[in-house]
Amino acid sequence: MSGPILDFPDQVPYDAYVHASTLHSLQQPLSKDPGEMSFLMVSQVMELWFGLACHELRETQRLLREDDVWGAIAPLRRIKLHLEGLVAAWNGLRWMTPSDFNRFRAQLGEASGFQSAMYRHLEFLLGLKNEALIRPFKRQADLYQDLTAALAAPSVWDDVTAMLARRGFEIPAEVTDRDHTREYEPSPQVERAWVEIYRDDRGDNPLYLLGEALTDVAEAFGDWRYKHLTAVQRTMGNKPGSGGSSGAAWLTRSLARVVFAELWSARTVI
Ligand code: HEM
Repeated sequence: MSGPILDFPDQVPYDAYVHASTLHSLQQPLSKDPGEMSFLMVSQVMELWFGLACHELRETQRLLREDDVWGAIAPLRRIKLHLEGLVAAWNGLRWMTPSDFNRFRAQLGEASGFQSAMYRHLEFLLGLKNEALIRPFKRQADLYQDLTAALAAPSVWDDVTAMLARRGFEIPAEVTDRDHTREYEPSPQVERAWVEIYRDDRGDNPLYLLGEALTDVAEAFGDWRYKHLTAVQRTMGNKPGSGGSSGAAWLTRSLARVVFAELWSARTVI
């Protein structure tokens, strides 16, 4: 019976692929409080999930641009599962009371998840555009360039509406030719297209399945935002945030921005 390979000429292949030693060298807490490590590592794990969701959304866009609707459903189904993992990661912080957080909060200074470039990228891909929110990155040229390009590029929803227009749905020019840097304005014609698509709810209607896969992603992303707000209320109540906002009140307003709006509003009509 053969056992695992125990001798390697140089670096262990697992480390060469996963870069585990690099990943484990990235935890540099700012305080001596043992609880801070959960806060730091949960944040790092979530950053990785944000990056993975962005990767899958870009793949969704590539397939939509090729009019491969069946193909685009696969990365959306993966994102839904990734987002479930991301949402479950909040459990790692549910032990934290306000006094636990206060033990290291001051050391964070002005650092805040609000300054997460990858989260902002994810929001832009999901169609939540807000030019003001890239200002914090002005002094980091590579991040700023990336986010400026993401702001000006079509979101997944823009690719969905363009694909619907190519398939003969009546989508007005103000939707297909819109300025992508602006926040998306929901359109009655796009809502009507989804009402029509949902009339045929058989399992072999790819547009209907696409609609449901997109709804799953929007819902799971909403779950992350809601859990974040709950974590904030649980650990700091209504205190202002380290990033300078009013905290829970600001996040509640941010949460009100709807992802894939017409997929939700169409349900009132269906
Ligand atoms: C209990 C722990 C946490 C607290 C108390 C907290 C607090 C806050 C607050 C108050 C804000 C509003 C902006 C500000 O003024 O700072 C914010 C934004 C944000 N935080 Fe957290 N946060 C926590 C955990 C996390 C974790 C683990 C992540 C993961 C990376 C994260 C990511 C974000 C993001 C992406 C935003 C921007 C949200 C938006 O633009 O709508 N937060 N956080």
